[in-house]
Amino acid sequence: MKIVTVVGARPQFIKAAAVSRALRKSCAEVLVHTGQHYDDNMSRVFFDELDIPPPDYHLGIGSGSHGAQTGAMLSAIEDVLLAEKPDRVMVYGDTNSTLAGALAAAKLHIPVAHVEAGLRSFNRRMPEEINRVLTDHLSDLLFCPSPAAVANLAGEGVAAGVHLVGDVMYEALIHAVAVAERKSDVLGRLRLQAGQYALATIHRAENTDDPPRLVRLMDALQEISRHRPVVFPVHPRTRRRLESIERAQQSGDVRLLEPMGYLDMVRLEAAASVLLTDSGGMQKEAYWLHVPCVTLREETEWVETVQQGWNTLAGADGDKIVQAARNAVRPMAGEDAYQGAGSVSRLVQALAGISPSGK
Ligand code: UD1
Ligand code: UDP
Repeated sequence: MKIVTVVGARPQFIKAAAVSRALRKSCAEVLVHTGQHYDDNMSRVFFDELDIPPPDYHLGIGSGSHGAQTGAMLSAIEDVLLAEKPDRVMVYGDTNSTLAGALAAAKLHIPVAHVEAGLRSFNRRMPEEINRVLTDHLSDLLFCPSPAAVANLAGEGVAAGVHLVGDVMYEALIHAVAVAERKSDVLGRLRLQAGQYALATIHRAENTDDPPRLVRLMDALQEISRHRPVVFPVHPRTRRRLESIERAQQSGDVRLLEPMGYLDMVRLEAAASVLLTDSGGMQKEAYWLHVPCVTLREETEWVETVQQGWNTLAGADGDKIVQAARNAVRPMAGEDAYQGAGSVSRLVQALAGISPSGK
């Protein structure tokens, strides 16, 4: 079976690395990088660290408005699909690269597999929510990370082709944690003591593109950093916004850093006392690494992390964020709600089971 995998953004490189390692044992994979993320520390570092084969096609689309970016990807991916004639296209998550890959394939009647299907925030103002809903409805194979995701799809009348395989990001994480233990010296480099610092990231449009909200979030981090350092690898989108907002003279110890490679990042996550983030992937990584998480959003797709007591939704409410970080405790670890262990092989098996040629 020949599969074209379309990736473009940081979390997709990480997930595809775990799946590709297994997939390539039984399928011919053609890797397409849309170029949505292009800085070395947003793209190349993941290929190098995670041994991802170089993309067969690099489309070099880059940044742009939603329409311009998605449209350019759609057109360029279509050319690749016409040349490669794959049996199937595989897409990950909920970015503009995901939607462009799924739409290009569906219009050419090429079956689409969606990894991380069925997630919903029920907030249609998020660009990611639009991408998820449309991609799910364009896909004939839907790989869900949780029973809640399966139920979300059922609620929209999508049942055929739905497979509860678990969350493949778990296997990416476990692999990286083992490598990072040998290779990452980030704690020493940044002079950090395990358990004595908080780790923060912010990149969602709803937080970065609303200046008063971004100021409130930064003020909360500042307050937390009066008691322990807050390490903050800054997404380029956020860096740009931070440069344009006015903030009072700061005391405290918020350390604004460049985006991290994955090995340093998982090392930092595992040794942090608390994570403060609006990242989808990091909410789950915190959960799997048994580190408390404060989510800087009003809602989450990863509801199980909240239900099991690992994650607190604090929005951009300064008091709530500071309290949640201060009171963050590690509850008893229970069963993995995302059935991460074995997820990659379940996914590959499900894929093989429906191969048109049976190979
Ligand atoms: C995208 C995804 C989001 C995902 C995130 C992962 C969409 C709509 N959003 O958001 O779901 O959580 O990736 O990180 O697809 N930029 C650079 N260098 C880069 C990449 C981006 O400077 O290598 C800057 C550009 O100014 C760009 C901005 O960041 O306009 C936003 O990048 P974009 O890829 O459009 O969205 P993300 O915020 O990264
Ligand atoms: N990540 C990383 N370096 C960073 C920030 C995040 O390697 O500086 C990793 C993080 O550990 C997680 C993934 O990138 O695996 C999440 O990506 P992001 O937060 O950009 O996107 P989301 O998951 O919200 O779509």
